[in-house]
Amino acid sequence: MTNTLPITLDNLFAMKRAGEKLAMLTCYDATFASAMDQAGVDIILVGDSLGMVVQGRTTTVGVSVEDVAYHTACVSRGLERAFLLADMPFGSFHNESTAMENAVQLLGAGGAMVKLEGAGPMIEIVSYMTSRGVPVCGHLGLTPQSVNQLGGFKVQARDEKGAQQLLLDAVALQQAGAQLLVVECIPATLGTEVSAAVDIPVIGIGAGAGCDGQVLVMHDMLGLGGRVPKFVANFMLDSSSIKGAFEAYVSAVREGRFPGSEHTY
Ligand code: KIV
Repeated sequence: MTNTLPITLDNLFAMKRAGEKLAMLTCYDATFASAMDQAGVDIILVGDSLGMVVQGRTTTVGVSVEDVAYHTACVSRGLERAFLLADMPFGSFHNESTAMENAVQLLGAGGAMVKLEGAGPMIEIVSYMTSRGVPVCGHLGLTPQSVNQLGGFKVQARDEKGAQQLLLDAVALQQAGAQLLVVECIPATLGTEVSAAVDIPVIGIGAGAGCDGQVLVMHDMLGLGGRVPKFVANFMLDSSSIKGAFEAYVSAVREGRFPGSEHTY
């Protein structure tokens, strides 16, 4: 996709159907957003990872809707083309009316879609939101907002039971109206299966090369993270500029060179 018209959901679905890989990154301000946009990044996520990489927290728990809305507004001012996702922070979508109210705030700040973690009781909330016009992206596998329940940042769905449940959850989210799905830290074989099981684009982070697209946290792929997970590659190593690193990431994702087997579980 080389034109500069804003990317729509239809474009993302068409790219999945055509087997074109989607390149997504997290971002938190207008300057980096503009560089990513010009580098051809398709989807930009204002992740609640901002709690860790911007605010210096040890987890994403504690990030507020106002925090995400502020950064979403900043990022949206830097974009002409990329599709903008805004993360719903921990505790901001635990019932239908709260979820709706907070999603409206994030869409009002410039997001084209909101992302929320989990399945189970979240399926009904997703259904409530999508049937009222809120575009939703699901997030399964390692859901960082539940890190205290999961006992750390660990690979998920390694056994057959966990894998089957994740597949069922992906289908349930799609049926509830979700139009995009992030899967984090799961075996590569499962990432491929999930992508084949649903029609919506599936974006992996530590989920193997078989997903429809890839996402990384910006600071990690620029080599700024401290202790980074196995699934991260540092795109600054062979680039002379930050924009060059974004371009290298987009090419590596598009051409199927990232992630390599060394980045997968
Ligand atoms: O908050 C975030 O940055 C995320 C990505 C890790 C997908 O949810």
